[in-house]
This record gives sequence, C-alpha cells and structure tokens, in this order.
Amino acid sequence: MPSPETLVALPGRSERAGSAKTSPVRDLLALTERPEVISFAGGLPAPELFDLDGIRASFDEALGAPAVLQYSTSEGNPALREIVAGQYTANGLPTDAGDLIITTGSQQGLGLLSTALLDPGDVILVEEPCYLAALQTFALAGARVVGVPYLGDELDLDALDALASAHAPKFFYTVPTFQNPTGRTHGLAARQRIADAAIRHGFRIIEDEPYRQLRYSGDPLPSLATFAPDHVLSLGSFSKVIAPGLRIGWVRTTADIRPTVTIAKQAADLHTSTIDQAAAAHYLASGRSDAALAQIRAAYADRRDAMVDALATALPAGSSWNSPDGGMFVWARLPEGMDATAALPHVLRHDVAFVPGAPFYAGPADARAMRLSFTTYAPDRIREGIARLGMGLAGVA
Ligand SMILES: Cc1ncc(COP(=O)(O)O)c(C=O)c1O
Repeated sequence: MPSPETLVALPGRSERAGSAKTSPVRDLLALTERPEVISFAGGLPAPELFDLDGIRASFDEALGAPAVLQYSTSEGNPALREIVAGQYTANGLPTDAGDLIITTGSQQGLGLLSTALLDPGDVILVEEPCYLAALQTFALAGARVVGVPYLGDELDLDALDALASAHAPKFFYTVPTFQNPTGRTHGLAARQRIADAAIRHGFRIIEDEPYRQLRYSGDPLPSLATFAPDHVLSLGSFSKVIAPGLRIGWVRTTADIRPTVTIAKQAADLHTSTIDQAAAAHYLASGRSDAALAQIRAAYADRRDAMVDALATALPAGSSWNSPDGGMFVWARLPEGMDATAALPHVLRHDVAFVPGAPFYAGPADARAMRLSFTTYAPDRIREGIARLGMGLAGVA
C-alpha cells in the first residue's frame, strides 16, 4: 500500500463536462416533491390523461411475438417509422420511413446530432432563451454556444444573419413551435427567413418539435424542412402526446449525415427498446392515440386559459406574460427592478414553485423572466397555485 505522499492524483473530469451546468429545474423538482406544493416548475404532462388502458392493450398485442424482446436494428421499428413518416407526409413534408431513426426520446436525438456534427470549439447558434437540456448537450459536445436574441416575442432575424456572418456556425438550434421555455412560435415569414439564412450562409438547422401536436388555437405552420430540405434536421417525440416514460422520439435526417447518425445511435445504445417501439406502433395504428390526444388538447387548452386569466389578478402591477397557442409553458416577466431567482424562496414559502428564466440563457439573462408550466394540474388547482404565487410575490415587492 503506497503512503499518501506517493499517491499520484487521478486525472479530473473533462473540461467539457465541467462546462455543463446542472439543471436547476431538476434540483427544484427534488425540492417540490412534497404533495402540498403546487409546482409550475417542471414540464410534466398530466398523468391522469395518459391512456393507460389503450397503452396496456398495445403492450399486450406487441408481446404476441418473441421478436419484440430480441435485439433489433439501430434505425428502429419499421412499422413505427412508417407511421411517423406518414404523419410528416400528411402535414406537407414528404418523408420516407428510411429518412427516420427512432431514438430514446428526442433528447437522445440532440445528443446524436451533436456527436455527428460537432467538434470541440465549433460555434452553434441557439435561441435566447433556449431549452436547458439542449444547452447541456451542446456544452458536453464542447460547442461554443452563441445566443440569437428576441425583439419582443419575435426572433431578431437581422441578428441571426449578422451572427451567422460573424461566426460561420455549424447549426442553428430552434424549437420553432411553442418553444420551451417561452411558448413562442416562429410565424410563416420568420420560418421562411430562417431557412433562407441557412441556405445563404451554409449552416444547418436542427428543429426540435416535441410540442408541435399540442396546438389549442391558430393554424398549423409548416416544418422548416419544407423550406430548406437539405439543411434541416428535425427531431420529434411521443413524450408530450402519448407519455414521456415511453422514451420514444426520432430524428428525421438528411441523406448526407444519416450514416453518421446511425453509427452514433449504435454506439449510444444499439437501439431503442424493441418492446416499447412495437407497443407504440400498435397504439398509433389502433387509432386510440388520436382520441387520447384530442382529450389532452382540450384539457390543456382549459388549463392554459385558467393560468393566463389567473395571472391578470395575481402578478404585481407592471408584469407581463404571453398566452401561447399551444405547448406547455407561459413565459412571464416581473416588473422592472424585480428578480425572479431572488423571488423564488419567498414564493416557495407559500408552497408553490416556478422556474426562473435565467438558466435558459446562453449569454446574459433576463433576470425578470419566469417559466410557468400549465399542463400538470386541473384549472382549480392552477388558480389556487397562481393565487399563492401572487401572495409570495407580494411579499417580495
Ligand atoms: C424542446 C425540448 N426538446 C426535447 C425534449 C426532450 O424530450 P424527450 O422526452 O422526447 O426526450 C424536451 C423535453 O421537455 C423539450 O422541451
């Protein structure tokens, strides 16, 4: 046994790992597990709306053949890929099953695309603010992340152009529909301009679309890939429309990087659970998923309305908030001089939680911003929670 003086220090963690921030959303969720806490912090779908019977029946059907418990191909279940391809095609973006790789949640898709596209030091552009776990993934890949600002509720498209000229980014990461954390959506003209910028400057776009099907008002908008098919990689997920515990998402890849993404998938986990994919394919083919999604949409529309109405009386004068056409989040801003992170402990004392906006920024943050998820509770509980939020904030102001 060597003496302590002769022990050689072990190599530390990688610089890249050190640059990824822990998610304060996760840390907060741990704090808010007490049943009396009304948490608007996490982006949790409503568990009472999971179609337990339909999903159970689909697992039973899937288990009719032993192959569903066997190893399988990295690209994923052919029937499931056909169904997802059919959905894209029906929405105006012609897609073959062969364009798709099934992933273990769309979060894995983000990791696979980062592995396939990024070298340490590469610049990428993100919306500012941006989905937090995407920022973590890009930090772990060693990317230099540059934020594209918003002008009010609209992405600053001139800034996108200027930053693309200045940095020659590998890609622009966007959640174009009902963004996490802001609930914002890029309109038709903005989509066209983002796609044009990608073509002009020669960068790719990763469009991350887990909320696309959660629309409660307004008309559906085309995928960015319809405007620039060779430049756009699209991510999708069943987490918000069936259940996140399934862990099924997908990447719609362009032909040039498909083999690289497939190798990244092999190296990551060989393939996504065969039984889960088969059950999802049966469930979607049964038609029950359509009825369940219609119920989810109707319930979430009521919950959004309940939250937006309640905010009008609860937030301090001078606050602002949006009313998104879909998704899971309202983005609110406290009045000048207030700081959402500093307000959180006051609010937690009233057994209610939200996520401050600051961690969602790659660069300088808007300290007044906060994200409120409206999907987890029924309208009465939302009203109760927002009233408590108002009381907590009144104690700060
Ligand atoms: C924008 C965005 N992308 C990806 C994900 C990850 O979803 P999944 O459950 O499909 O991995 C989320 C989850 O909240 C998200 O908000």
